[in-house]
Amino acid sequence: ANERTLSIIKPDAVAKNVIGEIYTRFEKAGLAIVAAKMMHLTQEQAEGFYAEHKERPFFNDLVAFMTSGPVVVQVLEGEDAIVKNRDLMGATNPKEAEAGTIRADFASSIDANAVHGSDSAASAEREIAYFFNDGEICPRG
Ligand code: CMP
Repeated sequence: ANERTLSIIKPDAVAKNVIGEIYTRFEKAGLAIVAAKMMHLTQEQAEGFYAEHKERPFFNDLVAFMTSGPVVVQVLEGEDAIVKNRDLMGATNPKEAEAGTIRADFASSIDANAVHGSDSAASAEREIAYFFNDGEICPRG
């Protein structure tokens, strides 16, 4: 089905200057960028976005990392966009990510893992609405 998913290029990948290379992977896989913004997340924004991980031992490090520098947030649209984006990203831990995936190629640790992508339709809906209002999304076709 045609779907939308929320993607974040994290501070490590922005610092490595690979925004364009990551966008190229999305586009070559048939995903269209239908909304995008660069932002430096506040503590409150990062905590709210990752609220489901609040009780996890890595939560504080995650929030510290995600607020350590600018990120690029985008909505990707296309056939099976949620799973397609997760396949492009590879495993959360770059050491376990398959060769040729974004995390295998650009990430250095489970914290600095280059990208985030929604893990389900329900997450995608919540995460897209967290960063974009309807008027900021520009569907194709
Ligand atoms: P992300 O997809 O952005 O969602 C939560 C993030 O927490 C995850 O990517 C990782 O960067 C980070 N994280 C750190 N440690 C862990 C862990 N043990 N399990 C899952 N995610 C982790």
